[in-house]
Amino acid sequence: MKSFSAKSDLQTYLNPLRKKKKKIGFVPTMGALHKGHLSLVKRALYKSDVCVVSIYVNPTQFNDAKDLEGYPRTVESDIQMLRHLSEDIIVYLPTNEDIYGDAVELNDFNFMGLDKIMEGANRPGHFKGVANVVERLFDAVQPKFAFFGEKDFQQLRIIQYLNKKHRWRTTIVPCPTSREHNGLALSSRNQKLSEASREKCGLIYETLKQVKLKFSTNTMENLKLYVEKKISMHRDFIELEYFEIADEITLTPAQKNQKKLKYRAFIAVRVEGVRLIDNIQLN
Ligand code: PAJ
Repeated sequence: MKSFSAKSDLQTYLNPLRKKKKKIGFVPTMGALHKGHLSLVKRALYKSDVCVVSIYVNPTQFNDAKDLEGYPRTVESDIQMLRHLSEDIIVYLPTNEDIYGDAVELNDFNFMGLDKIMEGANRPGHFKGVANVVERLFDAVQPKFAFFGEKDFQQLRIIQYLNKKHRWRTTIVPCPTSREHNGLALSSRNQKLSEASREKCGLIYETLKQVKLKFSTNTMENLKLYVEKKISMHRDFIELEYFEIADEITLTPAQKNQKKLKYRAFIAVRVEGVRLIDNIQLN
């Protein structure tokens, strides 16, 4: 299995392949890989001739220094997992200098309001950091396809928007959310939860599924009240940060159900100090 930590070495390797018209598929990650990440890698292997996976804990997308410090780093076992999937995967492990040079200077992006709510409102600067790293990673890899999980739906929408606006010349491939047996969305952060809480966190997806069932016969306001009440009944272990129903394309919070639009419900909670997010398509 090939791995590179300098952009120049990666490009020296990839350029001849690109000239031979090999399709490069790319999965950007922050490591601590789990089956959710691997489902993206499998899609990339299936859809492309060459599959590149990056592992880089991007400091600029963390608005909380403690969160960055505590983010799990398991590069050795990540590489083993990838090797297990295919020896042909190319791993890109950039250094901070490789991405940001000597001094971190972030570019400004206009997200057309996609960053104003939910994760954007609760994590100031987060999407600016994501956009900066994805732009630089795309520049290094120049992928034909790039794979992003619906688990982070707002991130996916923002990347789709920027890709179109800035003509990054890649195709963004959305991939469905992988879940634990109880419905909890797989996340690198889950490993910080106690076994008991992890089990109880099935409540999050259970609640989203109930919202989907109730969607066509309830007002947005009622659905919000339902979720607030349901989560507060379990306040001994879980705390609601936000619940939102939004238009799937513009991410504008929905006031009432307009037949022609597609909606999604989004939730963020805290369990044992760990922040968890999830979402579900409603119609
Ligand atoms: P990370 O959280 O490591 O996630 C990498 C990719 O895996 C993202 O596209 C994410 O949506 C996807 N993913 C995570 N959990 C998933 C699950 N349970 N099912 C399906 N896909 C899942 O997202 C990031 O890293 C970073 O912001 C990044 C894009 C790499 C930029 O730093």
